[in-house]
Amino acid sequence: MAVESISVKLGSRSYTVRIGAGVWSEVIAVATERTQKGQRCVAITSPAIASARPESIQALQKLMPVLVTQHDGEKAKSVEELARVWNFLAENRVARDGAVFALGGGVIGDLAGFAAASYQRGIDFIQVPTTLLAMVDSSVGGKTGINLVAGKNLVGNFHQPKAVFADTSILSTLPPREFAAGMAEVIKHGLIADRALFAELQTSAPLSWNSPSLPKIIRRCVEIKAEVVAGDEFETQASGGRALLNLGHTFGHAIEAVAGYGTYLHGEAVAIGLVMAAQLSAELGQCSASEVSAVEKIVAAYQLPTRLRSPLAVEDLLAAMRRDKKVREGKLRFVLLKGIGAAQTTSDVPESLARKIFIAGGAGA
Ligand code: NAD
Ligand code: GLY
Repeated sequence: MAVESISVKLGSRSYTVRIGAGVWSEVIAVATERTQKGQRCVAITSPAIASARPESIQALQKLMPVLVTQHDGEKAKSVEELARVWNFLAENRVARDGAVFALGGGVIGDLAGFAAASYQRGIDFIQVPTTLLAMVDSSVGGKTGINLVAGKNLVGNFHQPKAVFADTSILSTLPPREFAAGMAEVIKHGLIADRALFAELQTSAPLSWNSPSLPKIIRRCVEIKAEVVAGDEFETQASGGRALLNLGHTFGHAIEAVAGYGTYLHGEAVAIGLVMAAQLSAELGQCSASEVSAVEKIVAAYQLPTRLRSPLAVEDLLAAMRRDKKVREGKLRFVLLKGIGAAQTTSDVPESLARKIFIAGGAGA
């Protein structure tokens, strides 16, 4: 089967993203090469992957020690799990020429990536994304981090992987709800940068892990992300730039934090956030009512929520938004749609409007 290959162009930190069924053999080849050179490597994975893919774990264990995190999902992005990973690296005498292989979804990528970024002031890491969300988004771009009780991803840094290997056949064991959560980020890429991708999602039958078009769709998302990241790697641009990838996330992160991590999957909270961001954009005259319903329709087509499943206190949601990393000079920052396929950042949204959108989306007093 054809393998898609995309370069993330970041000067000395450039790397290649390989996408397609069978790319796993390249992971084993790279791991073998590194360990044969005497580099000590470890792999980090999650309990669900360890039980769903024992053959992959066994293949890696022949080459390096494998740590399975204690918790699964968002709870694994914690200070305690990070300390376990650091200690595992030290116990296995991983040196500065060593590497961490992150075999998992966005949670494992963010956790293992941050451990690699901070251990001995930074060692190599290789992303082996196993969820759709990680393939189209989190494994590319080098954002790593963990959560604090006060908020999501509040501790972390930028640390680019050395390579990304997205084997789509690994998605065969991914639960359908998790696949749908990944679709939220696919939809996001269409909304911010590619009207044709959005149109393809509207017309095609709902995608699943073995849809023949999936590798090309993943490729398109990675291309969009790679281009945005190449233009603003550290998200320092005053407007636009990498922050555009946060469409729906100002609302979504607040929902995740207030509902309690794990209540909504990250992609589910982003899905509600995409609908809310479209509604906000319409309120501000940036997109039409029919574009808002197109967003709602595609989100619903993937059985993703378009509004809160049960009410959350609006004041708690607004307080969570104020704690978000995206706040600048005390102002909330949002990404707005300029129709479908283009987006812009703004910090001119009155809190009263965010309150109105939350209430329309099911938040309570
Ligand atoms: P996840 O990593 O929690 O994975 C979802 C669940 O599926 C977990 O239980 C996992 O163990 C299991 N799983 C993963 N692959 C599997 C497989 N192939 N078969 C069976 N089970 C499998 O969730 P996610 O949606 O991949 O990632 C969400 C996280 O990604 C959030 O913490 C979010 O903040 C982060 N994120 C980071 C970036 C970034 O740029 N760094 C971008 C987007 C999201
Ligand atoms: N997921 C947002 C980013 O990588 O910047």
